[in-house]
Amino acid sequence: MSLVEQALKKLQASRGGVAPQPETRTTAVRAPEPARPAVVRNGRVVPVDRPAMRASHMLPSTSEERRIVQEFRQIKRPLVDNAMGRGRPALPNGHIIMLASALPGDGKTFTSVNLALSMALEKDVRILLVDADVAKPHISRTFGVQDEPGLLDVLRSEQMDVESVILDTDVPNLSILPAGRHSETATELLASGRMADVTARLAAADPQRIVLVDSPPLLLTTESRALAASAGQIVLVIGAGKTPQKAVFDALDLLGDGKNISLVLNQCDEGSQQGYYNYYGHQAEGAKAG
Ligand SMILES: Nc1ncnc2c1ncn2[C@@H]1O[C@H](COP(=O)(O)OP(=O)(O)OP(=O)(O)O)[C@@H](O)[C@H]1O
Ligand SMILES: [Mg+2]
Repeated sequence: MSLVEQALKKLQASRGGVAPQPETRTTAVRAPEPARPAVVRNGRVVPVDRPAMRASHMLPSTSEERRIVQEFRQIKRPLVDNAMGRGRPALPNGHIIMLASALPGDGKTFTSVNLALSMALEKDVRILLVDADVAKPHISRTFGVQDEPGLLDVLRSEQMDVESVILDTDVPNLSILPAGRHSETATELLASGRMADVTARLAAADPQRIVLVDSPPLLLTTESRALAASAGQIVLVIGAGKTPQKAVFDALDLLGDGKNISLVLNQCDEGSQQGYYNYYGHQAEGAKAG
């Protein structure tokens, strides 16, 4: 039995409730033809450089692409249906989807990027990928928008409209909300009521928009718990053979009952994660987690 199955069985027994459903293994994305949007929003169209993204391990290698595209197709389907109310009632706030994990390096950002590209191929949806891991803005770096104003700038300034910092990409129906300029109060800003307002505004601005939020690890930071409160769907990414069972339980406990949680078992590249524990370990002490 896999780690996830064992975890779910135990969780189900201990809660006497319905455990979240495991999804499949990860990976993602057929390459759509680049096309510039008809109207350029906020003065810039971000090119999606697939070879560079492959080189930085944010897209699968060409040899794995086909399998991974297929897997992400399966992963996205229930998420899109829940968000848009296709074949089932739409979930409350279902078009706000948070990518979460218990620990660093489990594959949240990889999953976010690949899921976003896969979802952007859907008809009648527009995908907004939000970089809410402001301590490690890997989404922003992956798309080359790390120096652009973004989420943190909007959270700092009540006057700033969040739509003014969204950037379209040359992938049709995919736009990015960069993390923005970092500050000492980034954690507090993300956990603030203003963040909840901004998320609600993002969702309300366009009924066809699905907001994918890449986030920091649940067990080692406090702000991701606040982010989870705004999301109608949570994708909990589990590193295959990596994330300890206890960490999965603890993350699920933190998310609490009544949340729509999907589990994705991801094949992580363990070799590339050195140093991450130290990085977040600093914050873990304050959060009494990890
Ligand atoms: N399915 C996969 N196939 C290949 N490589 C992967 C896969 N998932 C993750 N990786 C690689 O593993 C590393 C960690 O993944 P990623 O950065 O997505 O994790 P994370 O959960 O976002 O970590 P952090 O919490 O530190 O931001 C990255 O180098 C990524 O490219
Ligand atoms: Mg990440």
